[in-house]
Amino acid sequence: MPYPYVLLSAAVSLDGYLDDTGPERLLLSSPADFDRVDEVRASVDAILIGAGTIRADNPRLLVNSPERRAARVAAGKPEYPLKVTVSGSGELDPTANFWHTGGEKVVYTTTEGALRLKETPVAADVVALGDSLDWRALLAHLHDVRGVDRLMVEGGGTIHTQLLLEGLADELQLVLAPLFVGDPSAPRLFGPGHYQSGRLRLVETRPIEDVVLMRYEPTAPGVGGLASAADRRWLALACELAALCPPSETAFSVGAVVVAQDGTELARGHSREGGDPVVHAEEAALAKIDPEDPRLPGATVYTSLEPCTRRASRPRPCARLILDAGVGRVVTAWREPDTFVAGADGSGVLAGAGVDVVVMPEYEGAAKGPNRHLVG
Ligand SMILES: NC(=O)c1ccc[n+]([C@@H]2O[C@H](COP(=O)([O-])OP(=O)(O)OC[C@H]3O[C@@H](n4cnc5c(N)ncnc54)[C@H](OP(=O)(O)O)[C@@H]3O)[C@@H](O)[C@H]2O)c1
Repeated sequence: MPYPYVLLSAAVSLDGYLDDTGPERLLLSSPADFDRVDEVRASVDAILIGAGTIRADNPRLLVNSPERRAARVAAGKPEYPLKVTVSGSGELDPTANFWHTGGEKVVYTTTEGALRLKETPVAADVVALGDSLDWRALLAHLHDVRGVDRLMVEGGGTIHTQLLLEGLADELQLVLAPLFVGDPSAPRLFGPGHYQSGRLRLVETRPIEDVVLMRYEPTAPGVGGLASAADRRWLALACELAALCPPSETAFSVGAVVVAQDGTELARGHSREGGDPVVHAEEAALAKIDPEDPRLPGATVYTSLEPCTRRASRPRPCARLILDAGVGRVVTAWREPDTFVAGADGSGVLAGAGVDVVVMPEYEGAAKGPNRHLVG
């Protein structure tokens, strides 16, 4: 299911705190960085904060620049991004600035929270998601019902922690401020949890006055049948690799990447790579990995077209190669059409053998791109 692109944004002290415990909000960013945040706000469809941040900071969460708001309107967007909050309890102060500034607002809550919000209403749409708040349901609702393609999340730590732990964050924009808080009871950016074990990818660093912006992308594949934000990025890469294939009238152009559980890329490949006229993408990638590599069972194979189940050119089709390698998870964009083999069903064969298969049809167009001459 397509979700919005989720961008986590936060400023932290050198010792990792989001705030101190004083009554006033601790200003961590510099003036120029506040302006950068304003620019990011102006670029998104919605901004989300947790109920804890509404209680602690009473923010207005606006796009402050009139020029940026005018540019949004000129582009056919609402003047302000949708403001979104989450509250399990539904205990929200109806006089908070959040409700009385900017454009439309929506609260995601539980059945119980919705009952409380009937008694003490706030000026917002209220969406109850059941007994507990499910982030995937929330993101799907934002995407499908509110048309949100880009979501900026501005904290606090409880929200950031959950989105990162559930593999739903596409990007982390972190600003490091040159000051210490030093109070263990102050809120931290990230709480304890089972985070991805490997390293995130550093995308950018930028000094802004006396603070530094760091942009990271999570890299770890999802778990089982659940797609992570990093799955989308790896699958997009597989689709890009398909464009490197020497053209053919008798075979598909496919790209593949093999990624360990901790987000380390183990190998990549594409069809007809290295002058071999019949090699397939998954075959080319797997051939670059030591079959004894202990990371293979936990790895994910990303492939723009589902692995083949029958082929004339080699004894073992790619679905077999994946099973023999012990890989337990495959993410693909496109089910194989009947162009060369009728009823191939690589996804079904792999799932039947116990492999978790995730099909992300939102990438089917990208996967088909280099194959238009074959499938129209
Ligand atoms: N430096 C920065 O960039 C920055 C940015 C934002 C915030 N902050 C700071 O962060 C602090 C607030 O952080 P916080 O962690 O206490 O609060 P928070 O993350 O803003 O909000 C937590 C609240 O959100 C609701 N919530 C979150 N996950 C939920 C779930 N899965 N199901 C149901 N409800 C859920 C709950 O509301 P209910 O209690 O209503 O159920 C929970 O108490 C403040 O000190 C603020 O200044 C700093």
